[in-house]
Amino acid sequence: MKVDVLLGLQWGDEGKGKVVDVLTPGYDLITRFQGGPNAGHTLEFEGKKFILRSIPSGIFQGDKINVIGNGVVLDPALFKAEVDALELSGHPLTERLKISKKAHLILPTHRLLDAAYESSKGSGKIGTTGKGIGPTYTDKISRNGVRVGDILHNFDEKYKTAIDRHKEILKQYQFEYNLTELEPAWFEGIECIKRFELIDSEHYINNAIQSEKKVLAEGAQGTMLDIDFGSYPFVTSSNTICAGACTGLGVAPRNIGEVYGIFKAYCTRVGSGPFPTELSDETGDEMRKTGVEFGSVTGRPRRCGWIDLVALKYAVMINGVSQLIMMKSDVLDGFDTIKACVAYKIDGIEIEKFPYDLNDGVEPVYVELPGWKTNMTTMHTEDEFPEEFNTYLSFLEEELGVPVKIVSVGPDREQTIVRYEE
Ligand code: GDP
Ligand code: IMO
Ligand code: MG
Repeated sequence: MKVDVLLGLQWGDEGKGKVVDVLTPGYDLITRFQGGPNAGHTLEFEGKKFILRSIPSGIFQGDKINVIGNGVVLDPALFKAEVDALELSGHPLTERLKISKKAHLILPTHRLLDAAYESSKGSGKIGTTGKGIGPTYTDKISRNGVRVGDILHNFDEKYKTAIDRHKEILKQYQFEYNLTELEPAWFEGIECIKRFELIDSEHYINNAIQSEKKVLAEGAQGTMLDIDFGSYPFVTSSNTICAGACTGLGVAPRNIGEVYGIFKAYCTRVGSGPFPTELSDETGDEMRKTGVEFGSVTGRPRRCGWIDLVALKYAVMINGVSQLIMMKSDVLDGFDTIKACVAYKIDGIEIEKFPYDLNDGVEPVYVELPGWKTNMTTMHTEDEFPEEFNTYLSFLEEELGVPVKIVSVGPDREQTIVRYEE
């Protein structure tokens, strides 16, 4: 079977964790292919709430196998905290979680470097999650990284060489730190990683494909944070797009099946960088309040705004999205009218094509649609959708050229409506 990919089309936090959990019963293997603990994927079911960072969101459904792929960067200390929390709540992982030997380790000094680089940027800072993501991927690309597989061979030497290099850089930045405070938890994390099967995940996943197993790849972040196609330089340091699943798992492009593109009925962003449809007014505040838009990793308030179809069309194109999933529809339940950005105005000229640079003076051009003013959170089938909501859906499908197959009306697993097949 081919590998289906689920990924965010906006600036992250679209609700990927929730939907991966919902889709998991239809799969044998759930994999993460990029990012690391900068991700915060929230799942809610049976009155409980979990936030996953590095562990795939298939971990709560039966005996499915979950794989942390080679494209992921793994922080041992945070990984152990995640494992401990899950096991404490009655979800043993040892048999169901495997880790690629080729995944790169986030060293304690990577986090320090992240902080040093950010503070050196002053007002131009990216607003990273501070988890060491950029420095770890930088070391990977510059061929200085330490990988999970290294834990098994000459680890102390490899660790020391990397740390010594980092210390030199931190000295240049005159960055003050206390490494001895960070190291014990990090090394405990290494012991925790050793409890799991460390695998050649590319072989494992391709074997699964050959044996007709169903594989789901879970993206982290979103297309607008992609290192190549996002709002550079205000992006993360990995390929969050569909192609990232090929490199981050070792899967050939022809073995990619469905591409689920997930988006909110509006739009959010956390951290710095351009956001054309941002609302710095009561409407934005209302979205933040109703949608509880606060970062699941950092707790930072998320910036909120209307849906941006220029950016979404671009994301659909780059990823080859075959099915759309719309999240947080219920957050717009109380609005009289809903706006959707269909073009940008730059220097007075209207454009519909996503531009090279979002950074300079992009003004959104909106169309306005009627709100549905109905509580959607208790709905179970699309027959219950209000007319105005159907109008909004049809409008989006027409603009984006892809069907919306799933609509989410609340954070719980049960608040998910799969639409009828045509
Ligand atoms: P992810 O990073 O893409 O997995 O998304 P996050 O977990 O960071 O953020 C999504 C937030 O929205 C979480 O708090 C979810 O519990 C919540 N959520 C998901 N779907 C819905 C929905 O349909 N309605 C509402 N109101 N909340 C939702
Ligand atoms: P999930 O998977 C939202 C943002 C940060 C910052 C930029 C770079 O939960 O959707 P980084 O720490 O990656 O170097 O930060 O990317 N960012 C996210 N925003 N959701 C995420 O993940 C994010 N991961 C990183 O806020 O602007
Ligand atoms: Mg998140």
